[in-house]
Amino acid sequence: MELVSKKRLELYAGRSHPELARDIAAHLGVQLGNANLRRFADSEDHCQFGESVRGADVFIFQTHARPVNDSIMEQCIMIDAAKRASARRITAVCPYLGYSRQDRKASGREPISAKLVTDLLSVAGADRIVSVDLHASQIQGFFDGPWDHLTAMPVLIDYLRSERLHDPVMVAPDAGRIKVAERFSQHLGWDLAFVYKRRPKGAPTQVEAVEVIGNVSGRTCVIIDDIVNTAGTICAAADLLMERGASEVWAAATHGVLSDPAVDRLKNSSLARVAVTDTLPIAPEKRFDKLEVLTVSGIIAAAIDAVFADTSVSEIFGGDNQV
Ligand code: R5P
Repeated sequence: MELVSKKRLELYAGRSHPELARDIAAHLGVQLGNANLRRFADSEDHCQFGESVRGADVFIFQTHARPVNDSIMEQCIMIDAAKRASARRITAVCPYLGYSRQDRKASGREPISAKLVTDLLSVAGADRIVSVDLHASQIQGFFDGPWDHLTAMPVLIDYLRSERLHDPVMVAPDAGRIKVAERFSQHLGWDLAFVYKRRPKGAPTQVEAVEVIGNVSGRTCVIIDDIVNTAGTICAAADLLMERGASEVWAAATHGVLSDPAVDRLKNSSLARVAVTDTLPIAPEKRFDKLEVLTVSGIIAAAIDAVFADTSVSEIFGGDNQV
């Protein structure tokens, strides 16, 4: 007996970011599968796929938005269901990977929670992971399988290029972003500067921007970061850049976490414009005039398509996804 088997792509989404899931499905030209997600009275989650996933290449989309723990657990439950329903391959698509900043022991008696999250995805049954702009790309090593690390760089670069800024300088707001900022500056043909940032010990939401290295006087500075959480980092950097004579300061980042008091800080800051992507949902009440939300749906769809077709993901980014 001989069988010619056909590959089948199935895309399911958790409930953390339905808009992005829909946009990705539209780019791919597929229907989102029905995962019949529901929550019991005691707050436990349940899922039951509405169609067979046997032998399918299953992509389970969930960005780890607030409440982060619920988002992660829901995705794990969906992966477990797909594994037990005999999916051929399961890919966890996590545009924003929760806990990614807890990627090492910064001091004694701390967890490495990013490793725990990847362990959870792995034990649930994920064969591979897709994510966007990890806080540190070596997090991929926490998972013993393929990890497609995407970057929002093409989306942010297109946006910044289209804005035709006057005498622009790319600025890294701390030591951790220098390599990324350098990559942006090379693509855009801009100069590079960076800020020396300190967080006072025991005050994780406070930031001190101590010094600027580079020529920013009279120029438009664009701060590039991976995450805007409480916005302390980019606001402190913006203030210092203005003090050092910048004519205008913008900020661009991949993940708009926007935890309180980010929105108030940004509205009242010296920043002229803030661009983030839609790796995380941004509620209407968190949107404000100078905030621009760009979509990464096309990039994620292209990566899912490449994974399904066994073609190169790096080629989509010209190799820039490994910084
Ligand atoms: C830090 O290393 C990260 O790259 C971001 O700069 C940081 O997470 C942003 O946090 P916040 O907006 O709370 O300053």
